Amino acid sequence: MGKFVIVDHPLVQNKIAMLRKTETGSKEFRELASEVAMLVCYEATRDIPLHQVEIETPVTTTKANMITDKKFSIAPVIRAGIGMVDGILRLMPTAKVAHIGLYRDPETLLPVEYFSKFPSDICEREVFVIDPMLATGGTAVAAIQLLKDKGVKHIKFLCLLSCPEGVKYLTEQHPDVDIYTAAHDEKLNDHGYIVPGLGDAGDRLFGTK
Ligand code: URA
Repeated sequence: MGKFVIVDHPLVQNKIAMLRKTETGSKEFRELASEVAMLVCYEATRDIPLHQVEIETPVTTTKANMITDKKFSIAPVIRAGIGMVDGILRLMPTAKVAHIGLYRDPETLLPVEYFSKFPSDICEREVFVIDPMLATGGTAVAAIQLLKDKGVKHIKFLCLLSCPEGVKYLTEQHPDVDIYTAAHDEKLNDHGYIVPGLGDAGDRLFGTK
């Protein structure tokens, strides 16, 4: 069974409270989403293996721990996932970005792929699927399946807010995928919104309504 990690550091909780507030405008919302994404990513990368290498400081030669053989990709689910890209790239500037576009077919209600663009070596990379809201889990499950179908072996899912329904569905469908979130909310409402939540993450990031 994959890990389920709530990154409940006081600074993260404070930023999540500001993200939730209705009066937080798009500029501040984008900055906060980016900062929280970076802090969630900080936890999600805690297990990266290190290797001892010899380096030279201005004073002496010494052994230091470095990440030498691990490659990452981040896979934002369009559109709201884009709001987490900058913060994560600040932490992992060499990660490649794999965009995933999915929409829900109004008749079958199943997620359909309309766009995807992946780095050519994605199968050799650990991939972090990023989407701010883990609500029903339908999109997350489909995005992860798409990556697995391409041969990706190591996947983590990073979000800003989750709820029990989404975590349950994602864990059932992809028990090998660890989930990292900044807050775990109470429930989903009848419109598929997380409660108390923060509203529509895409609209709040990009100023659309
Ligand atoms: N997507 C959002 O943007 N907000 C929710 O609350 C649920 C899904």
